[in-house]
Amino acid sequence: MKVLVLYDSQTGNTEKVAKRIHETMVSAGYESDCVKVKKNTVLDLYAYDLLFVGSPVIAWGPTNSMKNFVLEKFRAYTKTHIDHSAPLRPGKFTVSFCTYAGSHIGELEAIPLTKWFSAFTGHLGYQNMGEWHIVGEFHNQEEINTRGRLGDIRGRPNANDLLDVENRVKGLLPALSAWNS
Ligand SMILES: Cc1cc2nc3c(=O)[nH]c(=O)nc-3n(C[C@H](O)[C@H](O)[C@H](O)COP(=O)(O)O)c2cc1C
Repeated sequence: MKVLVLYDSQTGNTEKVAKRIHETMVSAGYESDCVKVKKNTVLDLYAYDLLFVGSPVIAWGPTNSMKNFVLEKFRAYTKTHIDHSAPLRPGKFTVSFCTYAGSHIGELEAIPLTKWFSAFTGHLGYQNMGEWHIVGEFHNQEEINTRGRLGDIRGRPNANDLLDVENRVKGLLPALSAWNS
């Protein structure tokens, strides 16, 4: 089972999460690529069996780089791979994730983004195995980090948040054990 951790990050929070996912997969013996999306990122997503797709929440959505990447991939795969009804592809799985500050409406700020990722990977025919919302401080915004819906989020994602991510990855693996190789 080949793994891709595809992510964007502006101030490092989502990168910490992406790297922990990747490191956990590698420690468990899987071949894993960890790729920060850039303007000219070239990737065949279908080369991977387990996709982790993540971004910081920026105004309830993905970063522009991630949005452009996803839409370009969608357009390209529509011509070659995506069929009516988006048939599930055996052995292809995905997890959507994000980091977010949630200062105004809490986790509701994060849900639209992971749903958007899940809609994309669903079109590809990947079976969704989770939507993970990890709290991430809004760097250099003291008020937002202390007076929002989630309370004091300074320093997050912290060691506990990253351990939680690691445990979620470890918890996912037995569910996919029939495809382990
Ligand atoms: C320009 C900008 C817009 C943001 N908009 C939101 C938002 O709408 N909702 C939210 O919960 N967090 C928002 N955040 C906070 C980030 O999602 C959060 O700090 C995230 O962990 C940053 O991840 P990164 O360090 O990987 O870039 C915003 C941050 C920035 C810089």
